[in-house]
Amino acid sequence: MAVGIFDSGLGGLTVLDAVSKRLPDLPLVYLGDSAHAPYGVRTPDDIYNLTTQATQRLFDAGCDLVILACNTASAAALRRMQEGWIPKEKRVLGVFVPLIEALTERQWGDNSPPREVGVKHVALFATPATVSSRAFQRELAFRAIGVDVEGQACGGVVDAIEDGDMILAEALVNSHVDALKRKMPEPDAAVLGCTHYPLMEKQFQAALGPDVKVFSQANLVAESLADYLTRRPEMAGSGTVSKFLTTGDPARVSSRATQFLRRQITFESA
Ligand code: DGL
Repeated sequence: MAVGIFDSGLGGLTVLDAVSKRLPDLPLVYLGDSAHAPYGVRTPDDIYNLTTQATQRLFDAGCDLVILACNTASAAALRRMQEGWIPKEKRVLGVFVPLIEALTERQWGDNSPPREVGVKHVALFATPATVSSRAFQRELAFRAIGVDVEGQACGGVVDAIEDGDMILAEALVNSHVDALKRKMPEPDAAVLGCTHYPLMEKQFQAALGPDVKVFSQANLVAESLADYLTRRPEMAGSGTVSKFLTTGDPARVSSRATQFLRRQITFESA
């Protein structure tokens, strides 16, 4: 068994970490496309092509189920992949739906009609490609009514995190939160809609203030995956070995990953 976890780079490790804590016996194959990161400034076609290539690599590694632990890929490529690219016996899941189910206080997989929910003003922090896709608003509209969403494209944050420059990443978070507040002075919730951002969650919370509830994806995706595998245990796949694959330089990527997760992570070439 092995479940594939894909991200453009290191951000999906926040999801991998939560999944491996929630499902410690499940082998996971992680693929970070660091050679092509960041995705957030690419065109939808480019993101689709890179995401399908990476997903195929994870299918080849024995994964029947692949989690796109990348909001940019989920926003720009997943729907198109589901419309005809994914083989019948495979599944590819994104990271928006678990987040939106939590935000709208739904049970996992509850498909009842949209209704009024507790939050009214939601700040969405994400990459430029995710914000411009409006995929978050589309998924939210299936589940909730009367929610005002203001997107803030957080240019530069992913590059700073990938480069390990956390001082720059923090400065950028502060300036993106300021920019958001000029458009939406009093959000009641904030969504960290990029899997790199949990690495900066404290900075987002500090800049937004204690009254704003910050939704971060990693644990929500892990819970929803656990629920999915209870219903579909056969989707855990045929691979039996956990590994970390990168299209970038394995030594450099391993050292950054070890720094982020505070445990030894060794990547090999994809
Ligand atoms: N971590 C990714 C996301 O969730 C992608 C960041 C990027 O490559 O721009 O959107």
